[in-house]
Amino acid sequence: MEYERISRLNRNRVDAFIKQHWHTTTMIIRGKEIDMTKTEGFFFSEGKEMIGLITYIFYDNILEITSLDSLHENQGIGSKLVEAVIHEAKERKLQKIVLITTNDNINAIKFYQKRGFDMVRLFHNALDVSRKLKPEIPLIGENSIPLRHEIEFELYINPVIAEENI
Ligand SMILES: CC(C)(COP(=O)(O)OP(=O)(O)OC[C@H]1O[C@@H](n2cnc3c(N)ncnc32)[C@H](O)[C@@H]1OP(=O)(O)O)[C@@H](O)C(=O)NCCC(=O)NCCS
Repeated sequence: MEYERISRLNRNRVDAFIKQHWHTTTMIIRGKEIDMTKTEGFFFSEGKEMIGLITYIFYDNILEITSLDSLHENQGIGSKLVEAVIHEAKERKLQKIVLITTNDNINAIKFYQKRGFDMVRLFHNALDVSRKLKPEIPLIGENSIPLRHEIEFELYINPVIAEENI
């Protein structure tokens, strides 16, 4: 199974997938609205059905993962999509990859740490700000845990730059 890159030709399918799984194509990250219809990314399909999608944006020599969803878990789809993004960041000679997940998402916290991402920042009560822009964000998240904080992970692509920043 091979992943495909988001393009003009499949953008409608990608936007429909995002809407289906996130209820809207606007994501709030660190209190800022992200228009998910403008993101780049990769996806896996099975027939006509999209079964995994990773999206990202670029700024300041950084690639930020804005979403990752696998519909067929524990088959390597999530890992392959993250590997595709790491490859992309290397090709573009970017400094690092960052992403935000929320405090309730124990599975994602495990998944990213096992793939070399480091937990670097906590945005305490960030979801209070997000809910002002998007009131439909639930109070209780995954694993019945109160959904309150954003946790930032990063993976340095260029270790020389990483040492200079210490
Ligand atoms: C987090 C998430 C993206 C992981 O996707 P996934 O497709 O299950 O990821 P993988 O299959 O690559 O890896 C999951 C586990 O399955 C294992 N696995 C992979 N292929 C396997 C196979 N063929 N047989 C058995 N296990 C396998 C992996 O080793 C991994 O376990 P590990 O982390 O202990 O090493 C997915 O759970 C998800 O969509 N969650 C909901 C949305 C979300 O939280 N997104 C991330 C926050 S933005």
